[in-house]
Amino acid sequence: MEILNKIDKLNQVLGSASPEDALEWLSQQPEFNVTFSTSFGQEDQVITDMIFRNDLDINVFTLDTGRLFQETYDVFDLTLKRYKKSIDVFYPKEEKVQELLTTKGPNSFYESVENRKECCSVRKIEPLGRALSPFNIWVTGLRAGQSENRSDMKRFQYDLKFGIIKFNPLLHWSLVDTENYLNEYKVPQNTLHRQGYVSIGCAPCTRAITEGEDIRAGRWWWETSKKECGLHS
Ligand code: ADX
Ligand code: SF4
Repeated sequence: MEILNKIDKLNQVLGSASPEDALEWLSQQPEFNVTFSTSFGQEDQVITDMIFRNDLDINVFTLDTGRLFQETYDVFDLTLKRYKKSIDVFYPKEEKVQELLTTKGPNSFYESVENRKECCSVRKIEPLGRALSPFNIWVTGLRAGQSENRSDMKRFQYDLKFGIIKFNPLLHWSLVDTENYLNEYKVPQNTLHRQGYVSIGCAPCTRAITEGEDIRAGRWWWETSKKECGLHS
């Protein structure tokens, strides 16, 4: 209950502050220990720039699933070189990946939603739990316009699965707002965005979209599920 009151208060105080001001304010509160998860997507690159350019006291980490695009590693590398700051990397447990590949092969995610969720659980969810455990605020690059599941989210919300306050500073930005920011500050971007990839995850589970298609149509495109991996429930 106490945590829910705290979240209500955060939504009141910072509900309409600019993302940059809100991040700065949070980073200065002794009661908050803030971390940001980046997948090096467009929204994530905006937040990374706000954190690193302003030298904010916010930790940054990424989950390297082991199945990312080379282009994602390239923008990761460019980001390190540009800001000269560190990004923590969390990798899946070796024995869990070995067991998954040995029992089900390398492409089991195409066979059923259950198998796909098992792979996401090994490669993303378990490492995410480790990454979040020392912190009490988790910043993400979620936008309401990305999908129907995300349209009624709040800027601050309680994440039941990980027992942490989640902050989505760009929740109400449009894709155009995001692109304008990236161009204005000349922030490094994943070159796949120029090839029709809007939402980018693991290489075998992401394809480009065509005009008129839903932003997340290229994620797990063979499924008719809700197209979430369990990172954001
Ligand atoms: S997902 O649930 O479908 O994979 P999406 O790609 O939309 O998520 O990204 C939404 C937010 O989740 C990102 O802005 C980022 O904060 C976080 N995220 C997604 N993938 C990763 C990753 N591999 N490493 C760290 N954070 C991630
Ligand atoms: Fe595995 Fe695909 Fe999930 Fe990546 S997105 S963790 S490859 S099922």
